[in-house]
Amino acid sequence: MTEKDFIPNAKHYTDRLHIIEDGHFTWSSPSNIALVKYWGKKEHQIPENPSISFTLNHCKTITTLSFSKKENDDQFSFDVFLDDDKKDDFKPKIETFFKRIEIYMPFLKAFHFKIETSNTFPHSSGIASSASGMSALALCLMSIEKSIITSNTTLNSVERSFDNNYFIQKASFLARLGSGSACRSLEGDLVVWGEHEKIKGSSNLFGTKYPFEVHKNFKNYQDTILLVDKGEKQVSSTVGHNLMFGHPFAKERFKQAHNNLSSIIDILKTGDLKAFIKIVESEALTLHAMMMTSMPYFILMKPNTLEIINKIWAYREKTNSNVCFTLDAGANVHVLYPEDEANQVLDFIKEELVVYCQNDHYISDKIGLGAKLL
Ligand code: PMV
Repeated sequence: MTEKDFIPNAKHYTDRLHIIEDGHFTWSSPSNIALVKYWGKKEHQIPENPSISFTLNHCKTITTLSFSKKENDDQFSFDVFLDDDKKDDFKPKIETFFKRIEIYMPFLKAFHFKIETSNTFPHSSGIASSASGMSALALCLMSIEKSIITSNTTLNSVERSFDNNYFIQKASFLARLGSGSACRSLEGDLVVWGEHEKIKGSSNLFGTKYPFEVHKNFKNYQDTILLVDKGEKQVSSTVGHNLMFGHPFAKERFKQAHNNLSSIIDILKTGDLKAFIKIVESEALTLHAMMMTSMPYFILMKPNTLEIINKIWAYREKTNSNVCFTLDAGANVHVLYPEDEANQVLDFIKEELVVYCQNDHYISDKIGLGAKLL
């Protein structure tokens, strides 16, 4: 697939676009947590290295996109609401997104849109909502595209059919243009994004379901997110990715991500939890090391992030547990553990880790299967 394959055939739109007046779609789409991290991109949100993530189950964005035909089709027109509050400060990001995807969604200027969105996790939790938010919006837009094309009676039945695979692939492709990691939030419990020599079908343009065998040790894997710092991100991910341009260790880092993804394929197959921990924790620390060694440099961990990491290492040493941590580009800690250790690890979290969270706040999640049309 190339970018051109996502540019629709004008004939598929022309007739119906005049007939469809209004409607609405609602999608719920989850957040994801990367095991091998995406950090560094080329133009057009093309990743410098492949990444793989667990799709979350409870941390989701629910978006309703209402659309109504407008008089002029010379500019984008939309309003955004978060939990019923009008959010004009969200508009520039969505305007940029619309501009990037217009060539793939030729109907965007024909409608006025009302975007109503809410998150199942608190907005001020420091959990990035861009992956779940952009994927939910991309899915709603795909539902409009599908309704236009499948209802176009002037097309023959083959032209009118709308393959589910194409629907998800294009939704992921669009979500990527909104926020890179959003393309890993659509479908599947483990999702790969970025070309990797061992993963046939892997693409820089969209996320794909992890295609290989996964050992039962990784089924229903648990993720408790410890909210160490609920503030605004100190470094936006756009700035962060840009720090990889001319970074002295960038080339090695991108190579390492390829190697770590190769290793994780075997680990996921054999169920080797100790090897899994090594890769996942090393990836998290490498992501932060890249930020500490860039110019300008940043430390995104807080003292409590380190307290938690040390507590996890001490607990593992003492109990031989398979609990481990990973980090996003911020201070919060994702505590990952197998389902059969859930009770013990949750007790440990409550007794020893919650004190390091802001207002004792944490969110218990686990692996889920992806987005849903509501
Ligand atoms: O999707 P972005 O541009 O916000 O980048 C997110 C990057 C990390 O969350 C730090 C890593 C990843 O692979 O999700």
